[in-house]
Formats: sequence, structure tokens, C-alpha cells
Amino acid sequence: MRVGQAGPVTIPASTLITRIGELVTNDGDGFAAMTDAALVIEDGAVAWTGPAGRAPAADSVVDAEGRAVLPGFVDSHAHLVFAGERSAEFAARMAGRPYQAGGILTTVAATRAASDPALRANLDRLAAEMLRQGTTTFECKSGYGLTVADEARGLALAAEVTPEVTYLGAHVVPPEFAGDVSGYVDLVCGPMLDACAPHARWIDVFCEDGAFGADEAAAVLAAGRARGLGTRIHANQLGPGPGIRVAAEAGAASADHCTYLTDADLDTIVSAALVATLLPGAEFGTRHPYPDARRLLDAGATVALATDCNPGSSFTSSMAFCIALAVRDMRMTTQEAVWAATAGGARALRRADVGHLGVGARADLILLDAPSHAYLAYRPGVPLIAAVWQAGRLAAGIPASRP
Ligand code: NIG
Ligand code: FE
Repeated sequence: MRVGQAGPVTIPASTLITRIGELVTNDGDGFAAMTDAALVIEDGAVAWTGPAGRAPAADSVVDAEGRAVLPGFVDSHAHLVFAGERSAEFAARMAGRPYQAGGILTTVAATRAASDPALRANLDRLAAEMLRQGTTTFECKSGYGLTVADEARGLALAAEVTPEVTYLGAHVVPPEFAGDVSGYVDLVCGPMLDACAPHARWIDVFCEDGAFGADEAAAVLAAGRARGLGTRIHANQLGPGPGIRVAAEAGAASADHCTYLTDADLDTIVSAALVATLLPGAEFGTRHPYPDARRLLDAGATVALATDCNPGSSFTSSMAFCIALAVRDMRMTTQEAVWAATAGGARALRRADVGHLGVGARADLILLDAPSHAYLAYRPGVPLIAAVWQAGRLAAGIPASRP
């Protein structure tokens, strides 16, 4: 304690949020919500939920004034360690040019040339942008370095802002390995993995024409798995391909994109319990057709929604935008989309502590400036996030309503 201080500063150990119009808890297997509800945060976790009229006392009280409270968004797919931007490429696509995986190399060149502080500043800015928009857990990939040193530094930077760090050395073959894919895969599975595995929880591969084929992708995931990394994949983004089968064989947590799926892919997703992570920002940004979420849901698949935030195909950090696209253009109900953006993302990251507001969950929550979750799609593009708590701490916004 500093000299002259009268006593210990009191940090409220418990906070009651009451008069919640709609409290989305996702308690159980699917979307779940209660009306006229309250929630108590204690020591960073959800301690109680129930009817507002029966709420226990707490050290501090927030009046939600009939607004909605949701679990914080879980964005399970993002590429945030990069330098530069590709707005001209986006504008050309909107004028009719196709998206090509090779555009990634523009960002690789800019990222290699950037200093650590420049990369860190961009990463911190995007992480803060996500938090303000209600994302309380996010995954972050490497993949724009593609040398041992550049991949390792990208992952070390990512680990400063999230525990969900993914090694994506197999994003695309870099120019110095042009014509020698197997030589590059050996590097990714050998010295690069040695340098990167200590910083990462996951390994990923872009399995697509123009990137890596089935055998190469399988080798990358097997090497990561042998080093204790969890596996995930970019599959079937730009056309049909073998990625779903490769993911299933590797015991992957999630197959991401899933834009072009055969019936056999669909069966594999369900039977292998792969989470299908849909990234509608990428279809928005590349003018590809949106994935058919309804078909996946009707087949019994677990669907997650994520931003794929990256400077090429999907430069959005907004989970609300993805929810709106999923509801409008992918035939998801508002409940399914909100579940996919919270609990679905948590499943894709194999996290039981986030994505829901059951008792014991981490107190990651969003107060909406709206009476129900449906407003996230009903009022697209409108900043509806009034306040965000992360592990029980008010991390962004102002919980009091505006006069
Ligand atoms: O998920 N598909 C591969 N990676 C990114 C695109 C990255 C880029 O274009 O820079 C994606 O869409
Ligand atoms: Fe991606």
C-alpha cells in the first residue's frame, strides 16, 4: 500500500447484471436463452443466472434496462499477424477479377519486411478492434512469414495476445521454393515446426489447388500432431477437394471454409464430428457463393462462424457482420448464427469455458444496445455492442444506457 492511502482499494468481487431483457446462455447443447433475467459474475466467472426477481445481492450492480446479454463471440479463425494491405486487389475483384491464392505472397513480402514493433502494433490494433466488437476469444494464425524465423516470430507475437495460436507455415509455397513443393513441406514439417511448435497450440494447412494437395496437407498435419499440436484445416474454399477427408483422417477439430462440399464430404464431417467453420466474410470478399449452412445443419453437423480476418480475402473483424451474412444468405436462423458465433467457435477450439454463460463459464459477455440477439442480423452494420466483459472485467464500452 502506498504511504498516505486510507485503506485497500475495493475491487468488486461480484457484479450483478440485472433487468436483462434476453439472456443468451447457450446452456446445454444448442441455443438457450431466458427473458427478464439476471446474471452474477464472481471472481471472473459466471456464478449465478436466473430470473431477475430472484437475483442474489452483489458488490456492484449493472442495470441492463431490458437489453440483451450474450456470451462474448469466439472467433476461431483469423490471420492477424501481417503487414501491408490489399485494397486494390479487393477493388479489382469487385470489378470482376477472380480471387487467387497467390495474392497471399503480396502480404508475405510486406510481412517479412516489417519490424517486430510494426507487426505488433497492427496485431494489437486488430485485437482491440475485435474486443470492442464483442469478440472475447480469438484464434490467430501465422502464415505470412514462411521462413523459419518469420513464422516463429509471427507465432511469438500472436501468443502475446491469445492462447489460441495456430502454426500455418503451410499457407502457400513461398517464391524461393517455387517448383519445389516437397522441399518446402520438408521445411514446414522439420526445422520450421521445431521452431514454431513451442509457440503454438494448433497446426493448420491451406489444402487447395494453388496451395497444398492431399498428401502434402496430410503430412503437415501428421507432423504437427506428432509434436502435440491440435489440427485444423483450410478446406474446399475455392473449389471441391480432398481437404475434408484429410481433416477427418488427422482427427482435426475443425474444417474451415467448407464452401464446396460433396455429399461424401458432408457425411465425413458428421461421422468424424468435425466442426464445419464457415467464413462468410471470405465469400463476401471474393464473390464466391456462400456455403450452404442449412445443408450442414440439416445433416446434423456442428457449425461455427468466424471472420477469417486477413488482408486478402476477408478484411473484417466483425462477428456481427458474419452473423448477418449467415442469417441473410446462408439460411441460418438468428439463433443458429449466434450459437455458431459463440458456442460453435468454442467447439472449434475445443474450449469448454467460453461460448456459453452456464455457471462456472468464464465471464465473457456482451451487453447489446438492443432487446434481443436477433438485432445483430436485423440491424446489420449498426454498432450494437454497448459493453464487453472479459473474465469478469469490463473491457470495453459503457454499461449504462445512453440518455
Ligand atoms: O482463409 N485461404 C487461405 N488463407 C486466407 C486468405 C489469405 C489471403 O488472401 O491473404 C483465407 O481466406
Ligand atoms: Fe483463413
